[in-house]
Amino acid sequence: MAKKIQITETALRDAHQSLIATRMTTEDMLPILDKLDKIGYYSLECWGGATYDSCLRFLNEDPWERLRTIKDHCPNTKLQMLFRGQNMLGYRHYADDCVEYLVERSVANGIDIIRIFDALNDIKNLKTAIKAAKNQNGKAEAQVAISYTTGPVFTDEYYVEYAKRIADAGADSICIKDMAALLTPARTVSLVKAVKKAVPELPIQLHTHYTSGLASMCLLKGVEAGADRIDTAISPLALGTSHAPTESMVAALQGTEFDSGLDIKALAEIRAYFMTLRDKYIKSGLLDPSMLATDAKALIYQVPGGMLSNLLSQLKQAGKEDQLTEVLEEVPRVRKDAGYPPLVTPTSQIVGTQAVFNVITGERYKMCTNEFKGLVAGEYGTTPIPVDPKFQKKIIGDKKVVKGRPADSLAPELEKLRGEIAEWIEQPEDVLSYAQFPKVALDFFEKRRNAKVGINGEKLDAKNKVHPV
Ligand code: CO
Repeated sequence: MAKKIQITETALRDAHQSLIATRMTTEDMLPILDKLDKIGYYSLECWGGATYDSCLRFLNEDPWERLRTIKDHCPNTKLQMLFRGQNMLGYRHYADDCVEYLVERSVANGIDIIRIFDALNDIKNLKTAIKAAKNQNGKAEAQVAISYTTGPVFTDEYYVEYAKRIADAGADSICIKDMAALLTPARTVSLVKAVKKAVPELPIQLHTHYTSGLASMCLLKGVEAGADRIDTAISPLALGTSHAPTESMVAALQGTEFDSGLDIKALAEIRAYFMTLRDKYIKSGLLDPSMLATDAKALIYQVPGGMLSNLLSQLKQAGKEDQLTEVLEEVPRVRKDAGYPPLVTPTSQIVGTQAVFNVITGERYKMCTNEFKGLVAGEYGTTPIPVDPKFQKKIIGDKKVVKGRPADSLAPELEKLRGEIAEWIEQPEDVLSYAQFPKVALDFFEKRRNAKVGINGEKLDAKNKVHPV
């Protein structure tokens, strides 16, 4: 019985997030969008994750404008975004009214599929976003991602339990999200089979990275085991810390019962364009060719690619880059102490930074970040394994432990935020930029206004709001 495998192209989001620190500009995307729309992909992952932050912080771009541009050029292909549950696209928990509004505006501006995950696999942190996605008059697919990791608790049964909760919460599809490239082909088979059996009504999408060199094997085995969709990246932005190449996966499935139906000749044109970008990125230093190498260290230290480069830069700042191996060995221990959180934003940063502190101060937990205390206190949700009460006490002292849903203690915040930036608002979505990245958004709003009223590129005298004479 033939089953057409659906392909999600990640070139416009995860591929460049994984390889060039999310620095692909809308201008870089524009020349190829119309052609991407004609390929027949199931979806284009093009928004969310780190793209929003990067637009505002580094590229001086309005992320909403980018989304609308992509939608204009790709009316026939579903657009997909990555959404960190109650953390939205930021790093803390937001009130429900913010989460609902971000979902609503994302869909209104062109998003068709919202892939929602929680770093702790805590279903409580997903409910508001799922419900909001289901509330868009059937315009949005609510896809919920299981953050895959390994460790004593992470058996197939653990994931099956979570998958059932995801189905009960109303998800339209389910993604196995292997952000750190920890899946092996054999595990993919057992996991896909187990999840498929538990929630046969939900399509399963496989997301894995190439870091350890196993991704294409995992995808192929996963498809044979019952996965319905796979995430790939067009070859110039594939491999290394990115994904399996789109063309290779299409070729591998061609003529089999799982044929994707995509045309390799048409994909060659897409490849040709992205090859020019790749050359440009290598030349400018944005793409470090070492990112494209295979590194099975990921399997040993279980650290996602982006986290590895973060750890290295933190150590460099402290002049202690020679202690990287010690830090990498400390990461799993900190993770164990903190109740085995999967390592994905924001837990990857929290655990990583704490591991760096533990090593460079020469004494474990001598210094703890507020975020680490928050994680141990349940402020990010329920950890997969309860934190040892003795350890908890040592880290947080008399600080209150959060038992329920962290967002339950957050008052609505949209109106207050709108008031704070009233003078800058040019579109309804601006409040969401400010909510998630307050300082960065204000800088962006100011630059935006200056560009509008600037004469001959002169900057506005910010204090007096006049032009220099
Ligand atoms: Co990813």
